[in-house]
Amino acid sequence: MRCEHADVQRTGEDVLLVDRAAASAFRLDGVAALIAEGLGSPTTLELLYERTLAEFDIGRDDCERAVSEFVLSLEERGFVEAVEAPPEVTAMRRRYLDLLARTLTNLVYPEHELRVELLEREGPGEDRIARRRLMRDIRYEHAEAYASLVDAKLEGRTWRGRPAPDAHTMVGLRRLRNLERCATRIFADGIPGDFLEAGVCQGGASIFLRALQVAYDEADRRTWLADSFAGLPEPTHPADVAERLDLSEPKQPWLAAGLRAVQDNFATYGLLSDGVRFLPGWFADTLPSAPVEQIALLRLDGDLYISTWDTLVALYDRVSVGGYIVVDDYGCFEACRQAVQDFLAERGLTPDLRPIDWSAVFWRKTA
Ligand SMILES: C[S@@+](CC[C@H](N)C(=O)[O-])C[C@H]1O[C@@H](n2cnc3c(N)ncnc32)[C@H](O)[C@@H]1O
Repeated sequence: MRCEHADVQRTGEDVLLVDRAAASAFRLDGVAALIAEGLGSPTTLELLYERTLAEFDIGRDDCERAVSEFVLSLEERGFVEAVEAPPEVTAMRRRYLDLLARTLTNLVYPEHELRVELLEREGPGEDRIARRRLMRDIRYEHAEAYASLVDAKLEGRTWRGRPAPDAHTMVGLRRLRNLERCATRIFADGIPGDFLEAGVCQGGASIFLRALQVAYDEADRRTWLADSFAGLPEPTHPADVAERLDLSEPKQPWLAAGLRAVQDNFATYGLLSDGVRFLPGWFADTLPSAPVEQIALLRLDGDLYISTWDTLVALYDRVSVGGYIVVDDYGCFEACRQAVQDFLAERGLTPDLRPIDWSAVFWRKTA
């Protein structure tokens, strides 16, 4: 659908919907203004819901009711032309993205992680039949461990000190859903630019970013992956040293996924293509000269002060106005938070940082 016979005009505090034919105008409140502006180019109800949910703190049911009622009233006045979008397309897209997010976080077979942990701790045991029964029923036999593992995957927390070794992403379901909100808003508003993740590990969050572009017919945008593909650098910046953030390969081998493994992971999901570009090396060396011109979504997941700082310095100016910046480790590591605060202070920026969960934050670039 799109708004055909009316324009949205801002005059001072007021937002008006101007009826061109009748030369009359309606004053719009905040939600209505946001929806009417979203109708400036062809869109869908689903995108309008996402746009509104990203901006206002309301539940999905209330949002869908308010948006569809307002759009219906515009349709009745002849402002909006509705074209039947095949409902199966949007329904299948939702199902695909939801299943993908559950697969990337390994919420589909989390009991495998319990099995591996048990075998690592206790070995195969002497009674093989009893052990196989336990393996079969481990989800119920170790119900508490199972529930806490699932919880960790929803929230993107490490579990018993393990950074989600059997999942393609450690960022958790909530952060993936937030990426979907940001992406749909970018698509709905026509914000130009590629998606870039700095710090990809096994590539899961980047795979989800690429899937969003593909699922929403926005695959002419590129997805960029920056990583050493050999793990984190040893801490040298005072903020990283002070927090003893040695997450380098000798200490945390799981955080060092090779380029080939990440490419194979993309291929496993059928998403490896020319639209996916890799920037191997330390951020300080690769990002300043990276051949990416405009970024609509920048995801920082390098944990350290130095990695966060290097990424913001090299790429912040390339983020489009209306684009999003997501910082994964803001609540998790003091050093990361400090790098963000230092960068914003140096630039005199005071963006509206919003929490996604216990660790990640995001904001929209407004100027
Ligand atoms: C926590 S992991 C990223 C998790 C990932 N986004 C996911 O979906 O699970 C951190 C990654 O950042 C990379 N990294 C951190 N600092 C870096 C730097 N300065 N240069 C290059 N890579 C870096 C590491 O190699 C590692 O793969």
